[in-house]
Amino acid sequence: MPYAEFDEVRLHIRQQGSGPVALFIHGFPLDSTMWIDQLNALSDVRRCIAVDLRGFGRSSAVTGAPLLMETLADDLAGVLDLVSEEQVDIVGLSMGGYVALAFAEIYPKRVRSLALIDTKAGADSAEGKAGRDAMAERLVADGRVAIAEAMQAGLLGPDASISAQARLRSMVENCPYETIVGALGGMRDRPDRTAVLGTVNVPTAVIVGEQDSVTPPSESEAMAAALSDAVLTVVAGSGHMSPIEQPAAVNNALLELFSRD
Ligand code: MLT
Repeated sequence: MPYAEFDEVRLHIRQQGSGPVALFIHGFPLDSTMWIDQLNALSDVRRCIAVDLRGFGRSSAVTGAPLLMETLADDLAGVLDLVSEEQVDIVGLSMGGYVALAFAEIYPKRVRSLALIDTKAGADSAEGKAGRDAMAERLVADGRVAIAEAMQAGLLGPDASISAQARLRSMVENCPYETIVGALGGMRDRPDRTAVLGTVNVPTAVIVGEQDSVTPPSESEAMAAALSDAVLTVVAGSGHMSPIEQPAAVNNALLELFSRD
């Protein structure tokens, strides 16, 4: 089933393996290919499902209106309705982590475990919100390649391999303009979900690149402290994109999480 279709939405899904379902939620402005190393390594123990969120990758197009984290979480519930009645492992990177926390708040009974990777629970500051609008304006004025160039240095650590750089570049440069604008609006408007952390009562992994400058390790330390059953992993030699920069370390942390389910 390469696509899940419901409520006039068509979501592309990348599946590998068998067993209990683990759902992978990509970051901004990326797509499901960011999880290829995790799908390859974890398909022995999980039916891994990496979704292209609406507007991204090969999924349905969007208009540029704010793409709310709650809407994206509802879409994932729609996918799960088609694939599993059991609880699932939810794995989200950065914006995918914002969606994962929205999912955990709205659908707590569907979560078997939670992995929050290079992400944070808080809302954008006033400065951060203004930065979202400035980025949307720059995108339209200067184009996607300019945005990709600006993001490359911020998202990847200084030791990122040429293949990690190439993967990131392809994802950003293939993301539609209206999706970028919509996701920027949705992230700008997302609420503070710090309080949700205290309601999560399943095993949790909090994973962060030690050189992550977008959501630095201090954010992950705070999340791990607020969660009741969290293991914090700080990934050496990685920036904000730890699943593609240091896949082995992230895969080990996820295997450890799945062993605690
Ligand atoms: C991401 O990687 O998904 C974004 O950098 C998250 C953000 O901009 O807040």
